[in-house]
Amino acid sequence: MATSSLPTGIPQTHQALAIIAPREPLQSITVPTVPPKEDEVLIHVKWTASTPLDLHRADGGLLIGPDSPPHIMGTCYAGTVAALPPNPSPPAHIQVGDPVFGFVQDGNPLEAGIQEYVTVPSYKVSKLPRNLSLQEAVTAPTNLITTFHAATKDLELELPWPIPDGWKPKEAESPILIWGAASSVGLYTVQVFSHWGYKNLLAVASRKHHESLKSMGARECFDYNDAGVVEKILAYVESTMSTTTSGTSADGPRVPFILDCIGSTEGTLRPLTRIAEKGSKVAVMLPVINVHAGDDQVPEYEMDVAKVKVDWEDGTVVRGVRTFFYAENPFLRDHFHRDIMPALLEQAAVQPNPQKVIEGKTLLERAHKALDLLRSRAPSGEKLVWRVAGDDE
Ligand SMILES: NC(=O)c1ccc[n+]([C@@H]2O[C@H](COP(=O)([O-])OP(=O)(O)OC[C@H]3O[C@@H](n4cnc5c(N)ncnc54)[C@H](OP(=O)(O)O)[C@@H]3O)[C@@H](O)[C@H]2O)c1
Repeated sequence: MATSSLPTGIPQTHQALAIIAPREPLQSITVPTVPPKEDEVLIHVKWTASTPLDLHRADGGLLIGPDSPPHIMGTCYAGTVAALPPNPSPPAHIQVGDPVFGFVQDGNPLEAGIQEYVTVPSYKVSKLPRNLSLQEAVTAPTNLITTFHAATKDLELELPWPIPDGWKPKEAESPILIWGAASSVGLYTVQVFSHWGYKNLLAVASRKHHESLKSMGARECFDYNDAGVVEKILAYVESTMSTTTSGTSADGPRVPFILDCIGSTEGTLRPLTRIAEKGSKVAVMLPVINVHAGDDQVPEYEMDVAKVKVDWEDGTVVRGVRTFFYAENPFLRDHFHRDIMPALLEQAAVQPNPQKVIEGKTLLERAHKALDLLRSRAPSGEKLVWRVAGDDE
């Protein structure tokens, strides 16, 4: 593979934000800036967005092996193209200077998003649509790809691209329960499913989000803070089965598709065991949280959904979602960043999550503030976004 050198003006080293050990302060470390190989792009990162995974890693050391630290953080970036290789392969869909954004693997020293420069495979680069800022766009990559991966791999629902003229999903009227619909994953899922013509979307979120979830395409909303939420969902589904074409066979499950956007043993899995039944497909965001991280609380996680101590009815299909494997689907690998994500945002078929901007004098200060907010479970219907470098965008 041909390699290039760094263009003039790009520093040989830069700052990156790293986890050194669980529940220890994060550190800003100096790492080399790596020129792009023929299938890579060098990007000057301006913005990133937090995900609860940052907390699972920082406080719980989730999937950070003993030899892995320093673990550079960040599953997404938004910035500008700093350099392309001399002979890009496949041919570049972007130019130097273009604003771009994407989903990346944290812990990978080349591409983890919370560092000033990332060297990223070109299939992980989306060109910014004209109608969006980098700050808005950075809310999308991590959880929009989660929606596509969970829907197609774990729930086995179709999301063809481009949507063929006149196409309608077979399951257009099947109940699809999205529990945690006001989470970042949930907000993108409601919008994507609605855009593809799935009509019987049942959203579970705090009441304050119900109006906006309905405007995005949820048919009915339920409040998880309501003690009778499970009974209300089942009563609704049973009452509407007789008046709509449910899309499910008479002896099939009442709720055939369930996306657990939260993955909490007591908060989501246990109530869902009372809704799912033989034939239901349940996709659960991993890790499952047994104990949430707190100021004085060491978190406990489970990455194997079969080991979570809840009882599912026999015949329920329960799968743990692991989005970092999305590129095993060659179609998503080749099209998600290049075409699908920019087009959905440009057409306003999907709105970026509302943003809460984390301020702070240094990268380290912003990162610690964001972690504190995740620890106290402050985000509600919004994404934490913050600057990595540069003040001009
Ligand atoms: N394995 C994977 O591939 C993958 C991918 C993406 C995310 N995840 C995981 O999925 C989880 C969610 O991520 P995110 O970025 O979407 O989180 P987020 O936006 O930070 O989630 C915050 C939202 O969670 C909702 N919530 C909390 N407890 C709930 C409950 N018991 N029932 C319903 N809603 C509840 C709150 O809803 P209200 O505002 O309505 O109170 C709040 O809006 C995280 O643990 C993350 O690590 C996993």
